[in-house]
Order: sequence, then structure tokens, then C-alpha cells
Amino acid sequence: MYYFGTYEDRAKNFDWSISEKELEYKAGDVLNIGWYCSDRICKMGKGDKPALLWENQAGKEKRYTYHDVRRASNTIGAFLRGLGIKDGDRVCLFMDKVPELYIGFLGVLKIGAIAQPLFSAFGDESLFIRLNDAQTKAIITQRKHAPKVRKILDKLPALEHLIIIDHDPARPLGPREVAFSLDGAAPVETLDIFPTKAEMPSVLHYTSGTTGQPKGVKHVHYSLIGQYLTARWVLDIHDDDIYWCTADPGWVTGTSYGIIAPWALGATQVVLDSGFSAEAWYRFAEKMKVTVWYSAPTAIRSLMKAGDEIVKKFNLSSLRHLASVGEPLNPEAVIWSERVFGLPFHDTYWQTETGAIMLTNFPGMKIKPGSMGRPFPGITATVLDPKTYEPITEPGRVGLIAFQPGWPSMMRTYWNNEHTYKAKFKNGWYLSGDRARIDKDGYFWFTGRDDDIINTGGHLVSPFEVESALLEHQAVAESAVVAKPDEVNMEVVKAFVTLKPGFTPSPDLELEIMNFIRKKLSPLAMPQEIEYVDSLPKTRSGKIMRRVLHAKEWGEEIGDLSTLEND
Ligand code: PRX
Repeated sequence: MYYFGTYEDRAKNFDWSISEKELEYKAGDVLNIGWYCSDRICKMGKGDKPALLWENQAGKEKRYTYHDVRRASNTIGAFLRGLGIKDGDRVCLFMDKVPELYIGFLGVLKIGAIAQPLFSAFGDESLFIRLNDAQTKAIITQRKHAPKVRKILDKLPALEHLIIIDHDPARPLGPREVAFSLDGAAPVETLDIFPTKAEMPSVLHYTSGTTGQPKGVKHVHYSLIGQYLTARWVLDIHDDDIYWCTADPGWVTGTSYGIIAPWALGATQVVLDSGFSAEAWYRFAEKMKVTVWYSAPTAIRSLMKAGDEIVKKFNLSSLRHLASVGEPLNPEAVIWSERVFGLPFHDTYWQTETGAIMLTNFPGMKIKPGSMGRPFPGITATVLDPKTYEPITEPGRVGLIAFQPGWPSMMRTYWNNEHTYKAKFKNGWYLSGDRARIDKDGYFWFTGRDDDIINTGGHLVSPFEVESALLEHQAVAESAVVAKPDEVNMEVVKAFVTLKPGFTPSPDLELEIMNFIRKKLSPLAMPQEIEYVDSLPKTRSGKIMRRVLHAKEWGEEIGDLSTLEND
């Protein structure tokens, strides 16, 4: 068992310079995440150490040492530069969990461009909104996803290159298309890495808003300082660990802790590019001898559902430390994992905007099942009174989770949307949009979101985005989208719709509308249920009152409607 001292020891005299020193970074130096995650590790003499052990659904395996990752990211970087991609340009990574995604991410950063990862299950509309907002210059994808990009190419004049990593030579390339094969390209041994400084942009992650379109969360290279130390202390990643982060790099957990932190630490990480099945996950963890596992509550609940017996078929004795993020981790899940793995899941709380873990259950710290833990050292966290925005001092009263700005990995703005960024701050606090209570020992207990965003299986879905897409269906006149309770995913999307004259409610139409959203947006955003209604509850000014529908779904009191009337 590794031991760094108690939470109190570490919080005492904490300074982010601890991380800077370990990374040998001084203010004003060049700081390039791509270099830190590959070249530096090689420079430290660990070039022959495995960096990535990858496997897909068909059982195909690939292995990359740090030298391989360094060279391959150079190769992708040089290729992009050859296409005319320059520092500050946005390059979208739109792939399944293939090695090119992980290595390409570093390649983009190495030339000073901004990596814009997007979830490969996104449909053309989700893709269009995000590529258009970012004025993305190039997109790297697989041939199976290319048709979704081709469909919107005409509407995206700024998108100069559609790079296909597994192009079929039998098929001619279309306009703006270019083929690139990592295995086929001549390896680039040395690359002039763009001398990015701490505050230069690195990653642009799109996240859902309650109103308006998704927002591009802009991160900078300095985020590394926070991601590195939180991974070392909270995820407890050490040199001899085999680390498995199950998140997809289309989302922030998959980049901060699925690429940047483990590679900056020089750890060996494993990736399983396949859908979820308890059997496949346990088999993979056994085969790879995973020691540290970072996953999400929905996956853990799905494993619980698969039962205890199946766990016994595998030798999972290599597991040493388990952590979770993304949604409330129910106490039963912590107790279950203690029982079946002999280890509890340590909950962590953070957001796309925070860039790194904010509330944590440190290894060695007393876990209170159901609690998100305590602030990471150096993070000042509180709950604010929703009316006055003043910190609540008495334990147990629910308020808005807020953080004092200034931690290294905090977003620097929303892309093209400084106004919305500024609105995230009140009285000098950054407002997370979540609610919690703090107990007398300083532990945070999540009570819910402070907005209408739906968290389905750890993925945020904007009701606004789904409502807008629904209106594009020929049968839909009006729509309102809310969360509906679900045993495994905690919440799923539910839509209420009124139909246009000439259309009649039917199960077939329901399926058609669901499929329409799945294709346009993504399987996550697809309503699991569509309820036909004659009219939707509205304020006097005509705004749909989602809260009324939400309360009905959750069996809650609707409350004082008059307060909603003038919303
Ligand atoms: O509502 C909180 C929930 O997920 C939101 C952040 O989602 P996203 O930006 O997609 O980033 C996800 C992974 C970092 C939060 O505002 N959330 C995250 N962690 C927890 C959580 N809710 C309850 N408990 C958590 N541990």
C-alpha cells in the first residue's frame, strides 16, 4: 500500500508548486502537454515502457511503448502541419476509442493546435453545431463515421480537411478528404514541438447548457498541473500501475484522466474499445492485470446488476484502487464493491469546466458511502445560499456548490461566449450548477443539479438541444424534455410532445421520432419515452414549464406555480 500521509497532512501548506516542481516546470517556461505525455517520459529513460495496451471487441490487440507514442504523435503532428494546420487551429478528433484518438490528441497539441474531441456516437446535427461554433479546420475520423461529416460539409466552409485514418483505397476520396494511416506513414523521429506557454489553449470540450446551444469549454496547457497531481494523489497512480479509465475521450474524463494525467505520470494505461458487458470488462481487467480503475456509477450499477457470481469467475486480485465520477455514486455501490472486490469505489466530483477533480475521497481517507468527499487540497469549496450567494456556515443545509476561482485546470472561458462564462460567477465564486450539503466533518453530499440538464449514465444532455431537434420532425408541434428516473442510468430522457394537425399518436410514430433523435443527436439524447399530450404547461408569457413535468415524473410536489408564472 502506498501512503502519502493523511488528507490533513497533504492539505497543510498545500501549494500547486508541488506539482510544478515534480513536472520540472517553472513559470514562463514552455509547457506543452503533448511533449509532457510522451517526449518527457522518454527523456526520463522510460521510453521502452508500455504506454498503451489496447484491445477491441474482436480481440485485436495493439501495444505502444512511450517511444512508440512519442514517434506516432510526431507523425500525426507533422502530417497535420503538412496540411497547413497551425497553432490555435481547432482539430476535431471524432473516433471510437482507437489508438489514433489517444495518440492523435497528443499530435494535435504538439503543433500548438487545439484538440476538439467529440463523442463518436454523435449524429450529424450534434456534430454540426459543435464544428460550426468552433470553426474547426480539420476533423480526424474513421471511415464508418465519415458519412456523418460528409452530410454537413457544405454547411461548414471553415472545415478544410476530412482526414480518414482507415480509408478504403478502392473508394475515391471526396472533396476535402484526405487519407492518413498511422501504421502506413513514415515515422517522424523528431518534430519541432510548438513552444506553447501555460495559458495557451489546449483542449476544447463541448458541454450541454440548459438554454442555448452547447458551450465550448476552453482549457489551457497549464491544466496539466492540476490533472497530474490529482491523478497522483486521488487516483493514486504509481509507476508500476496498470491503469484503466473506462471513459471515452469524447468527454472530459477520457481526456483529463484517460490521456493527459496517466501519460504525464508515465503510467501504463489500458483501453478496451468495445461496448459494455460485465463479462468483457472483468475479462479485460483480469487479462491486463489492472491495478487502478477509474469508472462511472452507471457502469458500476450495471456490474452490480450482473450479479456477484460472475465476479468469482475471474481473478481480479490485481485491483488495488477503485474510483468513480460523473453522477451520484449510491452508497449501495460502495458497499457492493467492498464485498465483491474487497475495495470500495472512491467517489470524485468535478466537471468539464473544472478540468480536474475538485471533491475527492482520498485513498486512506474515511469514506462515507454516498458522499463525494472533501475538497482536493488547494481547492476552496463551499455551498452558497441560493438567494444571497453567501457561503452557508451551518452544517447540513443545502446550497449551491461553488469554488473559489484560480485552480490550474479551470476553464479559461466558453468559446465565443464570454457572456455565459461571466454569468458563472457570483460574489467571486464559480457556480457549478449543482446543489449539495456539507456535513460537520466537511464532507459534501450531492443533492441534485440546480438546472434542467439531464445526467443520463454520467453524460449531460441538454433538454434544449433535444427539444430543438424534436421540432425538426414533421409531426411535432411543440415539445418539452425532462429527466425521468431510471434504475441503471439514474436519469433518462423523456419527451412530451404535441402533434401537428393531421398526425395521430401511435407507437410507430413514437419509434420514428426516437430514431430521428438518435440519428440526429446521439443514442444518449434519444428519448426513452415519448408522451403525447394535448398541450404543455406554460407560463403567461408562453414559456414551457419543464419543472411541472419534471415534478410529475419524479412524484414530487409541484410547488407554488405562481412563482413560475412570470419566468
Ligand atoms: O452534476 C454533476 C455531475 O456531472 C456534472 C459534470 O458533468 P460533465 O461536465 O460532463 O463532467 C463529468 C465528469 C467530470 C456535474 O456538474 N457529477 C459529476 N461527478 C459527480 C456528479 N454528480 C454527483 N456525484 C459526483 N461524484
